[in-house]
Formats: sequence, C-alpha cells, structure tokens
Amino acid sequence: MSCILRLTLLLGANAAGNFKLKPIALYRTKERGQPSLQDYHVFFKNVAGHYISPFHDIPLKVDSKEENGIPTKKARNDEYENLFNMVVEIATKEPLNPIKQDVKNGKLRYTANIFPHKDYIWNYGALPQTWEDPHQKDKSINCCGNNDPIDVCEIGSKVLSRGEVIHVKILGVLSLIDEGETDWKLIAINANDPEASKFHDIGDVKKFKPGYLEATLNWFRVYKVPEGKPENQFAFNGEFKNKAFALEVIKSTHECWKALLMKKCSAGAINCTNVQVCDSPFHCTQDEARSLVESVSFSLNEESNEEEQA
Ligand SMILES: *[C@@H]1O[C@H](CO)[C@@H](O)[C@H](O)[C@H]1NC(C)=O
Repeated sequence: MSCILRLTLLLGANAAGNFKLKPIALYRTKERGQPSLQDYHVFFKNVAGHYISPFHDIPLKVDSKEENGIPTKKARNDEYENLFNMVVEIATKEPLNPIKQDVKNGKLRYTANIFPHKDYIWNYGALPQTWEDPHQKDKSINCCGNNDPIDVCEIGSKVLSRGEVIHVKILGVLSLIDEGETDWKLIAINANDPEASKFHDIGDVKKFKPGYLEATLNWFRVYKVPEGKPENQFAFNGEFKNKAFALEVIKSTHECWKALLMKKCSAGAINCTNVQVCDSPFHCTQDEARSLVESVSFSLNEESNEEEQA
C-alpha cells in the first residue's frame, strides 16, 4: 500500500474542450504519525495553507464560481458543467476528517485480494459534500444510507495517490446493499484521462472497457466473503444505472449533507467541523482548525511531512 502523498492537482479544460493538465495546486496534504500505525493521520490544507476538511470544505461541483477563493474557469460545454471533485479516501468521524487507515474492531483493515485482482480494480474515493443519511430511506430502493459520503470507482488509467483531489466525469452508478444499507458506487472517469473525451455515459464503459463493469459487480459481490460475511446484494438486479440517474443520486446525497451541516438532522458519530461553510453551526475559524490538528499531533511522536508535487 503506497503511503506517498502528493499535492493535489486540479485539472481543467482548454478552449477546444479537450481536458488538459492544469497545474494549479488548490489542496495539499500534511502527514502526522507513522504510516501503517493507528496514529497515522493525513490532514488537508488549502492553497492559503489553512487546514480544511476534505469532506465538508472541498466543493462538490467543479464549476462552482470559486474554490478556496480562487475563481474557477467558467463552464465551456456540457461536459465541463458535469465535473465533480473526488477525494481519494477520507475519515468521517474525526475533526477535520483526516485520512486514516481504516480501523475495524481495533485492528487495521486492509482490503482482501479478490482473485484474479490485487487490491482495488479502480481508484477508490468519494465525492465531498455528499452524505448517505442512515435515517432516511432512499426513494428507489427503500433502504437507509450507510452514513458515508458517496463512493466513487474511478476507471481511468492513472493510479492515484491517497489524498489526491481530482476532477471526474460521472458515467453511472451501481446500487450495492451492504447489510441492509444503501451504498451507492458511482462509476466515473478522471477528466484528465487521455481517453476521457470518449466517455459520456455508462454505455461507453461497456463499449470501450469490455468486462470492466462485470468485474466491478463481481468484486463488490464477493469482497467481504474473506471476512466470513455473506455475498453482498444489489438493487435493480445488479444493473448499472446511467449518468442521468447517477446525477439524481448525487443531488439527493448533497441535500442530505446540507441538512447535516445545518444541524437539521442527527449527525451521530460524523464530525461536522468545517472552516468554509460559514452559516453552519459547526463552522470554526482557521485558528481553531489549526489547534485541532495540533492537539491530535501533540499526542504523537512528531513525524510530519508536507509533500508537494508541481
Ligand atoms: C467534532 O470534533 C470537535 C473537536 O474535537 C468537537 O468539538 C465536536 O463536538 C465534534 N462533533 C461534531 C458533530 O462536530
């Protein structure tokens, strides 16, 4: 498992509508603790060097007028209007939602290898500012949410690092039912992938990456079996829904997140501390965010790195 963290690269479209690397670094990560020990945390900072929560403070949509006070390029075509930010692996229950190694029953949790694959078969992350509400039944499935931001399987050719924030095009969605809870898995492609312009909807995945959706379905069906659990179930018979359906799912999970941050529903164990959602009762100042991070790292052997990539 790679523990190298990189500076976030945000990607934009050029005038011709082709996606091209645009090296504006809006987010960076700050490591605390020892990788593969339970004290390992990776915090996020914005371009101004202030700590933020990747769950609450990174905008969901790329074409919102500004990110971190920096105006983004105006949408030039439909594709660009449907770009979303995706963050690779975040923790929901700690203040400022740093990345942590997943701990289950006091043990570090790794993903079992599912033959013939090693590790994940895509880049795995989540959309910021979304939440699958565990108290609200989904309209189409009649199950409650799994208390997490909505997951993304990114199918591009580049292997991403933990903590990277990229722009993705949404292509479709799979509806996993995990122990009675809804756990949507969005299918998306890195907007900067050399082949991104060929992908518009779920049908293009079938066409240009034959077998990939079948492998994805099978992976999610069996991945908990090595832990002694039964196979996972799916709504809609395991059918991948199209982009239009996926965008509706994103919209409704974004509404749930808004209600969460405005304290209109119970947060449970989710930590809502944020620095950018100014009308949220959980809003804190930059100084308060800094002392939160320092209070975490004081209890650890100071071993911190800040990594950048130009
Ligand atoms: C989040 O963490 C902060 C700091 O530890 C704490 O004060 C707050 O009560 C926690 N919970 C929520 C719901 O934000």
